Amino acid sequence: MTQTQSLYELLGGEAGVRALVDRFYDLMDASPEAKDIRALHAASLKQSREKLFMFLSGWSGGPQLYMEKFGHPRLRMRHMPFAIGERERDQWLWCMERAIDAGNFHPTVVDHLKTRFAEVADFMRNT
Ligand code: HEM
Repeated sequence: MTQTQSLYELLGGEAGVRALVDRFYDLMDASPEAKDIRALHAASLKQSREKLFMFLSGWSGGPQLYMEKFGHPRLRMRHMPFAIGERERDQWLWCMERAIDAGNFHPTVVDHLKTRFAEVADFMRNT
C-alpha cells in the first residue's frame, strides 16, 4: 500500500505554511521589485499574513481555516477593489517564487507550487 502526503504535509504543516507566508510578506515589504503591490496593502501586513496563512492551509489540503472563518474565498471577487494587471501579477509571483526557493522543499514540490501559484495569480488579473 502506498501512502500519499498532502501538499500541506509536504510544506511542513502549520509551521511550514506560516513560514512560507512570512517569507512572502517579508519580501513584499522589503523589495523595490514589489513596491507597486506593497502599496496596495495596509501599512501593517499582520492581517494579510493571517488571511493568506488561513487560505493556504485549506488550499494545500490542511485545515480549512479560511472557509471556517470567512466562508468561501471567492478570491477573484475579493481582489476586485485592487487593479491587478500583468505588472502586479508578476510582482506577486516574484515574491512567492523567492519565498518558495528559500523553503528547502523537494524539487517536485517547488515545481508544483510555482505552477499552481502562477495559475491562480494570473486568474486574479482584472485590468
Ligand atoms: C496577482 C497579484 C495579487 C495581488 C496584487 C494581491 C493583492 C491583495 C491585496 C491588496 C489584498 C487585500 C489586503 C489583504 O487582505 O491582505 C489581498 C487579499 C488576499 N489575497 Fe491577494 N493578491 C494577489 C494574488 C493572490 C493570490 C494568487 C492569492 C492566493 C494564492 C491571494 C490570496 C489572498 C487572500 C486569501 C486575501 C484575503 C482576502 C480577504 O479575506 O479579504 N492573492 N490580495
